[in-house]
Amino acid sequence: MMVISIPYPWSGYPENNSNFASIVSFKCEYVSEKILILDFGSQYTQLIARKVREHNVYCEIHPFSHFPEPDESVKGVILSGSPFSVRDENAPLPDLKGIKGKFPLLGICYGAQYLSHYYGGEVKASNSREYGRARLNFIDRENSLLKNLKSNTQVWMSHGDTINTLPSDCRIIASTGDVQVGAYASSDELTFGLQFHPEVYHTTEGKTILYNFLEDICGCAMDWTPKIFVESTVNELKRKLGDDKVVLGLSGGVDSTVASILLHRAIGPNLTCIFVDNGLLRKNEFPQVLESYKELGLNVIGVNARDKFIDDLEGISDPEEKRKSIGKNFIEVFDHEAKKLKNVNWLGQGTIYPDVIESVSVNGPSVTIKSHHNVGGLPDKMHLKVVEPLRLLFKDEVRRVGKALEIPSSFLKRHPFPGPGLGIRILGEITREKIHLVQEADDIYIKALHKFGLYDRIWQAGAILLPVQSVGVMGDERTYEYVVALRAVTSTDGMTADWGHLPHEVLSVVSNDIINKVRGINRVVYDISSKPPATIEWE
Ligand code: XMP
Repeated sequence: MMVISIPYPWSGYPENNSNFASIVSFKCEYVSEKILILDFGSQYTQLIARKVREHNVYCEIHPFSHFPEPDESVKGVILSGSPFSVRDENAPLPDLKGIKGKFPLLGICYGAQYLSHYYGGEVKASNSREYGRARLNFIDRENSLLKNLKSNTQVWMSHGDTINTLPSDCRIIASTGDVQVGAYASSDELTFGLQFHPEVYHTTEGKTILYNFLEDICGCAMDWTPKIFVESTVNELKRKLGDDKVVLGLSGGVDSTVASILLHRAIGPNLTCIFVDNGLLRKNEFPQVLESYKELGLNVIGVNARDKFIDDLEGISDPEEKRKSIGKNFIEVFDHEAKKLKNVNWLGQGTIYPDVIESVSVNGPSVTIKSHHNVGGLPDKMHLKVVEPLRLLFKDEVRRVGKALEIPSSFLKRHPFPGPGLGIRILGEITREKIHLVQEADDIYIKALHKFGLYDRIWQAGAILLPVQSVGVMGDERTYEYVVALRAVTSTDGMTADWGHLPHEVLSVVSNDIINKVRGINRVVYDISSKPPATIEWE
């Protein structure tokens, strides 16, 4: 199977990893400049990438064990932090001979320690792990990395080791009260190390430091904007797809919508979209969203497959079994519809970066990655090539690209909704009656969030029907009905989340409305768990 990732590919993963057999290295001539991040497994690596991209500089993350040969578009390289110590037996210590001294290089935390350890300095265990806020009491502002920083600026430390001596060509450019080598620079080349994390929020002027590195040291033009992304992606799609035909599954969500509009710009009527009603969508969602897609000019086939999905779920209460049943039916329905189309060669997907990679283990060459594809299995079954124009973008970047494409905000601001839909928001076995109950409760809840101006401040919200009945009293009658849990979370990427602190008055109105209007629910509770340790969905 051949795959193109357009226009900015994630390359470098081993092709024999079954989850990633579809990812092939693809050099793109449309990237005029980029930063490479060499990942040593830090929890903050993705954050570094986001912060670089916030400066309108395109960047890619590559595991240290599969680092690509840098080409002329590479303007600089960042070495991430790591859970390892350089003194560990199995610590990642790659040879940087193609990079160090040839490209501007910034080591962060482990990255800085590694550069120091490997090139003649000494790294020792600290007496105590240094974690948390610190202040730079010495800053060499003459150094271009640290120019414009305020005295005593706050930085965020998170390390167990400390750099005791630097390689002979390096000198200290910042210190804290406890850490002498807070930052260093080479006198001979554009190599820098930061013991603290410039990418995290608590490093107050981290943004300035990254700006200095990108603008001053790497000489980046900083022009990677959504508009440029759209132009280059559409050109690249045109070039790759030519007169080929593409079929794409729409879900009503942001990602598949933006992917479809990009493809539509590139190949027009050669794109056909399929929108499946699995019976587990929100109340009235199918007809409303189908109509809006048509208004966007897309060629969409709406398929009512409600009975097939719901009948097959009968008797299943295990969440993974439900997911499998829904996923299998989606593939069957989609495949059946797509086969009616003639001469289709490509399957379009709205895959984005967090769908592809949840965690990258750097424990050796077999990179462990968890696949999150909603429709995994589809490309294999259909023998189609896959085109995924968004596979390297974060959700907020997809929204900005959508805005550049002038997609209505009703699509772009929609909360994420899981592929298995209400199927995983009805805990336990699914019945038509339960689907009706959760659709009604969810509709009241979401409408209230809009009415009170809260919808756009929440990352994701929904109602969950619990497999519990409780006693209530209505008028003079005893009731024994279902409990619904309301969930609302704030987040930036869905990977971590806090529970949404909704006003009590709003919760009170929603609770009253649900209990009064939805026959079958007599109790409403609010979920106050964050992720981790909980997850956003209950199943
Ligand atoms: P969790 O529950 O893992 O969810 O915190 C994180 C994000 O992923 C969505 N989610 C899914 N999306 N298929 C999907 O397409 C799924 O099976 C699935 N499970 C969770 C969830 O809604 C949230 O946005």
